[in-house]
Amino acid sequence: MSLPPALLFDAYGTMFDVQSVTAALNAHFPGKGAQLAQSWRTKQLEYTWQRTLMGRYADFEAVTAESLRYACALHQCEYSQALWATLRERYGRLATFPEVPATLAALRERGVRLGILSNGSPAMLDELIAHHRLTDTFEAVISVDPLRRYKPDPAVYQLAVDRLKLGSDGIGFVSANGWDASGAKSFGFRVFWINRGGLPAETSGFAPDHVLGDLSGLL
Ligand code: LAC
Repeated sequence: MSLPPALLFDAYGTMFDVQSVTAALNAHFPGKGAQLAQSWRTKQLEYTWQRTLMGRYADFEAVTAESLRYACALHQCEYSQALWATLRERYGRLATFPEVPATLAALRERGVRLGILSNGSPAMLDELIAHHRLTDTFEAVISVDPLRRYKPDPAVYQLAVDRLKLGSDGIGFVSANGWDASGAKSFGFRVFWINRGGLPAETSGFAPDHVLGDLSGLL
């Protein structure tokens, strides 16, 4: 498998583990952390799609707070500003999946241009990248924020083409989110879907070019 000149990575769920907030949630709501984390993530994504379709953009930080409020209501846990403050801080320090740092370093050594294309707000992405000392790893950290639309709007993927100044066929897009992989494929990227959980392939007709168990498969 030869790699394209540039690889663009999705952030949340692909490099950074959004379920790594489970322990913090369990500390507040014993035994409910896993279900809260799951519902929170699901609703967070729903709100990005809903807001884009409604033309009512709010940044990813706002969407992340409002979806936490929903998840708390669903599981009968009390939401408060203090809870959000704690979890917002955790969101800036989400764990990477274990193979991520070494894989990125090896890709850099091979001369592959690396970037991030994410729904995250610039502030959220900067925090995560600084926390994991990845600032020098990525030549471009691209947030949807200036566009005020979320993935999988094709205009989001176009942002990366404009920024990297490569055709869509020169860019490989790496995501563990099946719907994001489909969106990138529909746009025209060569797509690497990271199927960490052994999920069935999406059936909507925009199959990824490659399916890998984790990021190390890129090597
Ligand atoms: C992102 C979302 C899809 O990082 O997780 O863009």
